[in-house]
Amino acid sequence: MRNSFIALSVIAIVACGARTAQLDVVSSDQDLTAPSELALLMRTMAAHADSVKAGLARGDKKLPPYPAAVKKLLTATPTKDMHIDPITFPTFGTDYQAKVSALYKAARKDRARAYNALVLSCANCHTTHCPGPMMRIKKMYVALEE
Ligand code: HEC
Repeated sequence: MRNSFIALSVIAIVACGARTAQLDVVSSDQDLTAPSELALLMRTMAAHADSVKAGLARGDKKLPPYPAAVKKLLTATPTKDMHIDPITFPTFGTDYQAKVSALYKAARKDRARAYNALVLSCANCHTTHCPGPMMRIKKMYVALEE
């Protein structure tokens, strides 16, 4: 029982890594299935964070539009057979939502710090779920002055 659980987790991790690393893999069943609702939401979240970072670099006055879709984070359907931990996923998910909200409430001078806290909340969840995108997430931080 224990062994089969470990084997299943490994499959989930590999799948999550392979799809996101954009490796040229020979097409498997998984490549033929459409991305899950949660995977699509993650792409929206990643694109949102990238555009916040680009705006910080340009010194934009405004943040990109509030990513309203993040309210579905705890209910979006994940990829079939992916292990979503019933304790840590909602904990990290709620933390990410709080970090998005804090970013939009932050004074302009505090935005870079608030943005880095948001990226850290991505990384926190990804250490326990779907480690594939971690390389990408680690590159998302901005350097803070001081
Ligand atoms: C609460 C946990 C959690 C948080 C927070 C989180 N992720 Fe994810 N992420 C996941 C899970 C689980 C998946 C796998 C989704 C699936 O395949 O259904 C995923 C998948 C992804 C993917 C791959 C999507 C695809 O195309 O298959 C990327 C990229 C990603 N996340 C980036 C991010 C970024 C960037 C952030 C922060 C802005 C973030 N994630 C925040 C749990 C999280």
